[in-house]
Amino acid sequence: MNPKVIVALDYSDEESLMAFVNRVSPELCGLKVGKEFFTACGPAPVELLVKRGFSVFLDLKYHDIPNTVQRACSAAKDLGVWMINVHALGGAEMIQAAKVGLGVNTDRPLLTAVTILTSMDHAALTSIGFEHSATSLVERLARLSESSGADGVVCSANEVGMLSTIFGREFLKVTPGIRPGGVTNDDQKRIMSPSQAVRVGADYLVIGRPITQSEDPVRALEVILKEVQGEE
Ligand code: C5P
Repeated sequence: MNPKVIVALDYSDEESLMAFVNRVSPELCGLKVGKEFFTACGPAPVELLVKRGFSVFLDLKYHDIPNTVQRACSAAKDLGVWMINVHALGGAEMIQAAKVGLGVNTDRPLLTAVTILTSMDHAALTSIGFEHSATSLVERLARLSESSGADGVVCSANEVGMLSTIFGREFLKVTPGIRPGGVTNDDQKRIMSPSQAVRVGADYLVIGRPITQSEDPVRALEVILKEVQGEE
């Protein structure tokens, strides 16, 4: 079984990333590589993490014309990662193309679709012309993602209950916006604590700064894992 906690390795250099990775094991946590590290350091370190046996989530949130996304997903598949993602806002045709790019092998990466970023609240959505609530937009985009062949969605833990009612447990719910104690003092808006997120049924918890920015990241991870295991 894949570890429930995925650590967001938002570092800008390989040395910092490996300093953390060298202290954890593939049984303990999954690892997420996002735009900052990938832009700074490229694909080679990603392949190294895969080689070391980690479940690697390549979080590049593709959002482009279907042909471009299909080819990008095909390249991501060749890195051997466990999960990739696209923005559901790219639409049905783009999500379907992403799936085609991943191929049909049983060990292909899982395809998840970002619904509405956990950093966006109602005011932010209104400012870009979205009149509906985050919850109803997430529902709509999750339905689109599921019918287009995605294996799951990236959403806030606040929306997991609603999505489980609609889709059941099989359709994956990957949740960033996780904050110990359920309080945020940064850009994440639709948040939940680790234990609450597990209780509502999140499949995977993506956690970055509460771990990577703490004085002792591995200790911070262990504390979170203990909280999570208490709910399983
Ligand atoms: O530091 P923090 O815990 O906020 O990190 C969350 C991570 O999850 C970041 O790397 C961010 O890019 C990513 N993410 C997110 N919201 C999404 C998808 C991914 O915050 N919808």
